[in-house]
Amino acid sequence: MILGKKVALITGAARGIGAAIAERFIQEGAQVVISDVDADAGTETAERLGDSSRFYQMNIAEEEEVNTTVERIIADLKKIDVLVNNAGITNDKLLLRMTSEDWERVIKINLTGTFLVTKAVMKHMIKQRYGRIINMASIIGLIGNFGQANYAASKAGVIAFTKSCAKELASRNITVNAIAPGFIETSMTQALSEDIKQNYKKLIPLGRFGQPEDVALLALYLASDQSSYVTGQVICIDGGMVM
Ligand code: NAI
Repeated sequence: MILGKKVALITGAARGIGAAIAERFIQEGAQVVISDVDADAGTETAERLGDSSRFYQMNIAEEEEVNTTVERIIADLKKIDVLVNNAGITNDKLLLRMTSEDWERVIKINLTGTFLVTKAVMKHMIKQRYGRIINMASIIGLIGNFGQANYAASKAGVIAFTKSCAKELASRNITVNAIAPGFIETSMTQALSEDIKQNYKKLIPLGRFGQPEDVALLALYLASDQSSYVTGQVICIDGGMVM
C-alpha cells in the first residue's frame, strides 16, 4: 500500500479530478478527507468511497471556514500528511467583457483559496516534519488562453506560489509540487461545444482528452514517499500538448 497510514485532505473532491484522486488514494491505503463547497455531492462521493473517506464541507475562499475546518479535521484524524489543493473554477469571458467581479471570483477561489488552505495545513506539517502538498494548476497557467485571462492568471499564480512554498518548506521535509493538466474529461470541460473540443484535440499529439484517473496516478506519485526528491516542479499531464 503506497499510502498506508497516510491522511490526505483533498479540496474540491466531490467530483471530477478530486474525486478520482480520492478514490485512487483510498485504493492505496490512505484515509481521505473529501472536502468541497457542495455538501450534497461531497456526501454522496464520500458514501460511495466507503469507510476510508469522510466529507467535510469547506469553501476554500473563506478564511474562517478554512481555519476552523482544518482544525476540526486535525482533531478528528490527528494529522494531515498530504494536501491536494484541487478545488477550482472557470468563469470564461473575453477580456473586453470581463468585469472585475469575474476576475476576482476566479482569483479568490483558485489562487487565494489555495493559499488559505496551504497556510492552515502547513503549520501541522511543519510540526510533524513531514508533508506532501500538491497544487492543481493548468497548462493554461503556462500558455494562456482566449477567454481565460482570469483563470490563466490564477493558475500562473498557483505555479509561482508552488515554487515559493517549495523553497520555504523544503527544510521541513515538506515537498510542494504542481500538476498542470491539459484537457481532462470532467464537468469543467463538458461545458465546451463539440466544435471547440475537436479543435483542441487537433492540438494534442496523443489525439484525445485525458481522464481524471490519469491525473490521479500522477498525484499518487507526488503524494508518495517515492517522490521524496521532487519539489517545486510543475508537471504537465496533457497528452503532449505543451512541450
Ligand atoms: P470540476 O468542476 O469537475 O470539480 C471541481 C470541484 O471543486 C467541484 O466539486 C466544486 O464544487 C469544487 N469547488 C468549486 N469551488 C469551490 C470552493 N470555493 N471551495 C471548495 N470547493 C469548490 O472540475 P475538475 O475538472 O475536476 O477540476 C479540478 C481542478 O483541476 C481545478 O482546479 C481545475 O482548474 C483543474 N484543471 C482541470 C482541467 C480539466 O480539463 N478538467 C484542466 C486543467 C486544470
